[in-house]
This record gives sequence, C-alpha cells and structure tokens, in this order.
Amino acid sequence: MKFSSLTDTFELSNGIKIPCIGYGTWQTPDGDCAERCVADALSVGYRHIDTAFAYGNEASVGAGIRKSGVKRDDIFITTKHWVTERGYDKTVEAVETSLKNLGLDYLDLYLVHWPCVEKFSPEWKEINLSTWRGFEKMVKDGKIRAIGVSNYEAKHLEPLFAEAEIKPCVNQIEFHPGYTQIDNVHYSQNKGMLVQAWSPLGSGAVLFDKGLNEIAAKYNKSVAQLCVRFALQCNVLPLPKSTNKERMAANADVFDFEINEEDMQILINYPLLGFSGYRPEDAPADALAGQ
Ligand code: A2P
Repeated sequence: MKFSSLTDTFELSNGIKIPCIGYGTWQTPDGDCAERCVADALSVGYRHIDTAFAYGNEASVGAGIRKSGVKRDDIFITTKHWVTERGYDKTVEAVETSLKNLGLDYLDLYLVHWPCVEKFSPEWKEINLSTWRGFEKMVKDGKIRAIGVSNYEAKHLEPLFAEAEIKPCVNQIEFHPGYTQIDNVHYSQNKGMLVQAWSPLGSGAVLFDKGLNEIAAKYNKSVAQLCVRFALQCNVLPLPKSTNKERMAANADVFDFEINEEDMQILINYPLLGFSGYRPEDAPADALAGQ
C-alpha cells in the first residue's frame, strides 16, 4: 500500500491532496472535550480533522486547532452543510456561519451532509441542485477548496453529476466491517470520488466481535487497527474517532501490516454488524427534515 504515515495523502479529482486518515469528531461533546481532543489528535500527528455544523462543536474544533499550535495551512479541515440550510441562499449563509464558528477564512472540504430524498419532497433533485449551486459559488469565491457529498447513493449521485458544474469529489458514507455498502463504494469510486468512512469502527460496536478479534490477532493488531487498515486497503479514507489520546495514536498505527486478500474478502462481505440504521431514504425524520 502506498501509505506509510498520517501525512501521506489521497489525491482528490480536483488535484487537492488530503491526508489519508482523518480524525472524526461526531458525538464529541462541544466545549473543553472537543477542544482538547482536536489538540490531542494534532499532537499525535493527525493533520485532517472532520466535523459538521450538526455536531454542534465547530467552535470548539476551531479552538482546538488554534490551541495545537499547528499552522492552519498544514491541516485539512472538513465541515458539513446541514439539512435545514438547503437551497442556494441559505447554503451560502451556512458556509459563512461554519467559517465563523471555526474561526477560519477557508474550508478545505465542505460536504452536503444528507441528500434531500423523494420521500421528503417531489422536488428533491432541484433542491439538491440548488444547494449544490451554493457550494459551487463558494468554491469560486475562494471560501472552499473542494466540495462533495455525504450519505449519497447512486440514485442521488446520478442527477447531481448530470448537472454539476464542479463535480463532487468526495462521498462520505458509513463504512466498516459489517456494513461496507460495497456497491456504493465502487459506484462512487468509478465516478472519480474519494470515498470516506464515517464510523470506521462501527461506533465501537464491532470491536468486541469474536470473528474480527480472531482476524486482528493474526496480525498482532487490535480490531480498531484492523478496521482502519481495512478501509485504507479498500481505497477508502477512514475517519476514526476517539476521545482518548492513546487510542487516537493507536488507531493511526496501521502502516506496518497488510491484510491479505482472503481476509479482505471476509471483511468486505462480513455479516451485518454495527449498522447505525441511517440511510438517506429511511433515516430518522429529524436527521433529514428541513426541506
Ligand atoms: P473512545 O472515545 O472512548 O475511545 P467510530 O470511529 O467508528 O465512530 O468509533 C468511535 C467509538 O469507538 C468511540 O466510542 C470510541 O470510544 C471507540 N474507540 C475508538 N478507538 C478505539 C480503540 N482503539 N479501542 C477501543 N475503542 C475505541
């Protein structure tokens, strides 16, 4: 595999380089915790931080970045647009709000958090496109370096690709042994997008599985390390999350082993385990409301 450290990069379709493992902040409590976690993640070597407006911790993430002393330009920072802000004008405002919250003057990557779907509006395609036009404007204005989507499936990507002036270069989806959405991974990769994994450890739910522990033991690695390495070997960028500094470091200690092809197939096809229950068409209404 081409990666040997946290500063090695994938290249996005627009040529921008993105550090190969990101530090995730979903469910990291706002305030001192998020601030300390982000500073710790940067101190153990992460250079890629993933947050979202909906996580409610953008301001603390920004504070953690400043506290770390690492230069802003040396960090790749992603945040996400929330479902209540759909449409061109609200989207443009949402970018400004996230920049203000984070205390930044540009974002490296901005993602549509969830697609609008047919069940919520017959105009779902137009709504998604109008949001996207706001994304494109903010790229042209120099506020964002790269744009993409999250939780999109082929049926949502197709109409967007047909109309987008700037094609989405990332699809961030739930991905871990037990829920790989492998067809979506391949579809997205074939469109030239980098797939990113949210909950690469199944939010912790896969870590005690007997079969996964047996596979990890063969490589003298933890299940968490197996999961992070598994994503990388699928050309998927993992965003593991931990509030514990030792575990943050351990989760990035994945460059000294290789999962063999037989085990990769087992992991790709692992029986359903640790699935969040969220899909764009049937996620809880509060996750997708706000058309
Ligand atoms: P903690 O924050 O106490 O470390 P995901 O990245 O899939 O969202 O999973 C995050 C969950 O997994 C958190 O509950 C986190 O708890 C836990 N976790 C993260 N890294 C490890 C690890 N190396 N060993 C055990 N649990 C971990």
